[in-house]
Amino acid sequence: MGKDVIIACDFSSREAVLQFLDKFSGEARKPYVKIGMELFYGAGPEIVREIKRRGHSIFLDLKLCDIPNTVKKSMAVLRDLDVDMTNLHAFGTIEMMKAAIEGLTRPDGTQPLLIAVTQLTSTSEQRMRDELLIDAPLPDVVMHYAQNAQAAGLDGVVCSPLESPVVHENCGAKFLTVTPGVRFSDGPDGDQARVTTPARARELGSDYIVVGRPITGADDPVAAYRKCCEEFLGIRQ
Ligand code: C5P
Repeated sequence: MGKDVIIACDFSSREAVLQFLDKFSGEARKPYVKIGMELFYGAGPEIVREIKRRGHSIFLDLKLCDIPNTVKKSMAVLRDLDVDMTNLHAFGTIEMMKAAIEGLTRPDGTQPLLIAVTQLTSTSEQRMRDELLIDAPLPDVVMHYAQNAQAAGLDGVVCSPLESPVVHENCGAKFLTVTPGVRFSDGPDGDQARVTTPARARELGSDYIVVGRPITGADDPVAAYRKCCEEFLGIRQ
């Protein structure tokens, strides 16, 4: 399974995202694109087909969490949209994650990559304890959810690049770490608290880096994307 740079296309309209992707039309290497809830709910499933037709791989970031039967049937819809990667909340239990895989599996037995969100990075240990009544330390909860995801047969987790080494230590090198929180050394951190550069994410063993504003907000997004590929993949284009 190949490493890659995924651009988080956090735009709210079809026009805005296509205008952005037009900038990459001359590139030999079509960027892997993350479509989140904002764009999916705003533009509808057709936006996935349209970006796919342009030759991009797609990580559909909808973070499903519901009863197993509903998740299974929803995942079958996403499978038919031909996404390359999608995700769910590990919180939904192993049974739900297994049902998700059933729904995602194509008739030929293959499936898009399925990645689990463990604890959202916006949830603090105190809120987890006070509001969710989870008493275990946050890193233990994250690792336990990652192990549940692996037991269910998922391909990996979303985590910080800083957590990639411990996830790989516990779940094996083949268990994927898909990591946001990436910034260039000379750029602003924005609202991300714990950030690493693409080069550092590579050293830490991240499998995919998810990069939004350092590329989408750059004066020259194509140059910023190329810089990410150069640092993270060692590819000069
Ligand atoms: O613009 P930026 O590089 O911060 O974008 C990171 C992307 O990764 C956003 O789409 C954000 O929603 C997503 N993400 C994250 N942290 C998580 C999970 C997802 O930043 N823990």
